[in-house]
Amino acid sequence: MIRAGIYGATGYTGYELLKILARHPRAAVAFASSTTYAGMRYCEVYPCTYEHVLVAPEQAPLDQADVVFLCTPHGASAPYARRALAAGVKCVDLSADFRLRDLGVYQNWYGTHLAPELLPDAVYGLTEVYRQQISGARLVANPGCYPTGPLLALYPLAREGILSGDKVIIDAKSGVSGAGARPTPTTHFVAAHDNLSPYNVGRSHRHVAELDQELRLYAGRPLGVVFSPHLLPVSRGILSTVYVSTGPSWNDDKVRSLWREAYQHEPFVQILDAGKMATLAHVVNTNRCAMSVCSAGIEGELILVTAIDNLLKGASGQAAQNMNVMFGLDETLGLPA
Ligand SMILES: NC(=O)c1ccc[n+]([C@@H]2O[C@H](COP(=O)([O-])OP(=O)(O)OC[C@H]3O[C@@H](n4cnc5c(N)ncnc54)[C@H](OP(=O)(O)O)[C@@H]3O)[C@@H](O)[C@H]2O)c1
Repeated sequence: MIRAGIYGATGYTGYELLKILARHPRAAVAFASSTTYAGMRYCEVYPCTYEHVLVAPEQAPLDQADVVFLCTPHGASAPYARRALAAGVKCVDLSADFRLRDLGVYQNWYGTHLAPELLPDAVYGLTEVYRQQISGARLVANPGCYPTGPLLALYPLAREGILSGDKVIIDAKSGVSGAGARPTPTTHFVAAHDNLSPYNVGRSHRHVAELDQELRLYAGRPLGVVFSPHLLPVSRGILSTVYVSTGPSWNDDKVRSLWREAYQHEPFVQILDAGKMATLAHVVNTNRCAMSVCSAGIEGELILVTAIDNLLKGASGQAAQNMNVMFGLDETLGLPA
C-alpha cells in the first residue's frame, strides 16, 4: 500500500483527494492536515463518513508517508515540500510553487519563492506530456486548472509546428470551486449565481506564465497566449475555447487525426467526433479531458474546445494520476474515467 499524506485536506482539492484515496486499491491516507480543524474528525467538517482525525500541518507524521499531496496555497506549499523531501517522502504539489522553471518569472507573478533550490527537481505534472519524467520524479508540480485542457489540445499542434503566428487566444469559463473553499465578494453565491463574469483578462491572470512556458517548450519557439478567464455559476468544470491559426493545408479533420494519433493510448483523453463539441457534461466527476475541433469558417483558422473537471483532471485527479505514475502503478487506479 502507498501511504499518502494530505496537507490542506479540508480545502476543495484536499477533500477530492480523500475521496480518490478512499476508493484507491493500492493507496491509503497516512494523514490529513488542517490548521483550522486540527483535532477534529473529518466527518465533523464535511458531511461524509471519513473518520480521519485532522492533524496540524507542523505535526504531520512524515515518517508514516511515502508521498504527500500539497493541497495548500502557493507560498505555503514550498516549505512543506522541502520538509517532505528531506524526510525522503515524494511530493505532488497542487499549488503553483514549482510549476515555473524560471525563478525570476515565478517571483514576478507570485513573489518570493521559499524553496528555490528545489526548482530544478520539479517536473511539470501534465501526465500525458511528461509521463516519463514523472515516473522518476520526487517532486511533481501539478498543472494549474485552467492550463490543463488548452495545453493538452495544443501540445500535438505545437509539437508538429502547425501553429502560425506567435500567439493563441484562450477564452475559458470555470466553475466556482476553482476559487477554493473560502468565499470572496466575487465568488460569493449572490455575486456568482445567475451571472457570468470575466476577470483578469488579457495577460494578467497568473496562469499566463505557465501557459507561455509550456507552449514555448512544445513549439520550440516563443508562443504566448491572450487569456480571458470567466467565473461561471456552476460548482465544477472548466470549458476553454481556443482560437488558433494554422496554415491553409490544415483543417479540423486533420487536427482530429493528429490528436487521435497522439492520444490513442491515453485513458483520460476523449476526442469527440466531427460535429460534436466538448461540454462540461462530458467530464464533470471524471478525470477526463474532452476535446473537439471545428473550422472557424475562415481558411486556416480553427476553434478547439476542451472541457475538464477542475477538481479532477484540473487538480486532484491529475495529482493521483501522477502518484500512480511515480509509484509504477496502473495510471487509472482510483480515478473515475
Ligand atoms: N480549486 C481548484 O479547482 C484548483 C485546481 C488546481 C489547483 N488548485 C490549487 O490547489 C491548492 C489548493 O486549492 P483548493 O481549491 O483546495 O484551496 P482551498 O479550498 O482554499 O483549501 C486550501 C487548504 O489549505 C489549507 N491551508 C491554507 N493555508 C495553509 C498553510 N499556510 N499551511 C497549511 N495549510 C494551509 C486550508 O486549511 P487550514 O487553514 O485549515 O489548514 C485549506 O484546507 C491551491 O494552491 C490552488 O491554487 C486548485
